[in-house]
Amino acid sequence: MDVGKKAENAVDMRVNIAGIVWKNPVTTASGTFGSGKEFAEFVDLNKLGAVTTKGVANIPWAGNPTPRIAETYGGMMNAVGLQNPGIDLFCERDIPFLRQYDTKIIVNVCGKSEKDYCEVAERLSHEDVDMLEINISCPNVKEGGIAFGQNSKAAEHITKAVKRYAKQPVIMKLSPNVTSISEMAKAVEAGGADAVSLINTITGMKIDIHRRQFVIANKTGGVSGPAIHPIAVRMVYEAAHAVKLPIIGMGGIANAQDAVEMILAGADAVSVGTANFRNPAVTMEIAAGIESYMKKYGFACVSDMVGIVD
Ligand SMILES: Cc1cc2nc3c(=O)[nH]c(=O)nc-3n(C[C@H](O)[C@H](O)[C@H](O)COP(=O)(O)O)c2cc1C
Repeated sequence: MDVGKKAENAVDMRVNIAGIVWKNPVTTASGTFGSGKEFAEFVDLNKLGAVTTKGVANIPWAGNPTPRIAETYGGMMNAVGLQNPGIDLFCERDIPFLRQYDTKIIVNVCGKSEKDYCEVAERLSHEDVDMLEINISCPNVKEGGIAFGQNSKAAEHITKAVKRYAKQPVIMKLSPNVTSISEMAKAVEAGGADAVSLINTITGMKIDIHRRQFVIANKTGGVSGPAIHPIAVRMVYEAAHAVKLPIIGMGGIANAQDAVEMILAGADAVSVGTANFRNPAVTMEIAAGIESYMKKYGFACVSDMVGIVD
């Protein structure tokens, strides 16, 4: 991928994701970084390739009843249920905040119906944001969300619909809760997606044996964090072999080694989620760590590493 030449021996951290050039391959996983404001005290947002925001719908959603978060071995489980302020407040408050920084803005979009998704995409087509990430993979909402992400025909259909309204490149976010991730990646590619991101959380359950109750009010929740990393690496590898689209890999990335592993498996860029809760500065550290790795092993640009373990 030619993103321009730099001085000899310098490491070029830039990546080109569907025509949008990020300064490095690191972004934040949706829902774990708000719209950046909560983290700006700990993270220089200028140092991130992109900020991916929490999912936003056409109208405000209250999310699921509490408790909706629990710790698990090597990670956590959540059933937040896509609580969000709705697109109007998001555009008014969050886009101007993020625009102060020299980073790309990726808006994660959620919906209960095709119409919901399209309404948000249409609205965002007039806004100064760089990419849309369409969440068809949330396991924690009853309608919409994952219903589109577990059926290849529905995934292709909604991709086509959103593409009709979106002005910015569209990243389709895939669910790991499927039999074949390759089939889902191919379906969104056929629908005209510009990129894919994966994985969303893996549906789990936790029971409090002393109270003999579900720990999460929703009964099930999405598992994230280091425990799911090997599954995510395998799925990124499979998706990379199934489609030609750029891939944003995520799932349990907690340090630069995990991020490099994902890139070697086939990811063009990486998202960091649950690890932000443990160390709010982790995204910057991961970007610096990838650069050190490239210097150590003589990689001139990120794309030279993508998918080379085959
Ligand atoms: C608390 C929480 C909220 C999340 N909210 C969203 C969301 O709004 N939209 C979305 O597409 N993914 C959401 N996710 C999924 C993450 O973006 C990511 O795909 C997943 O957690 C795997 O990455 P990780 O192991 O690095 O956290 C959420 C995850 C967590 C833990």
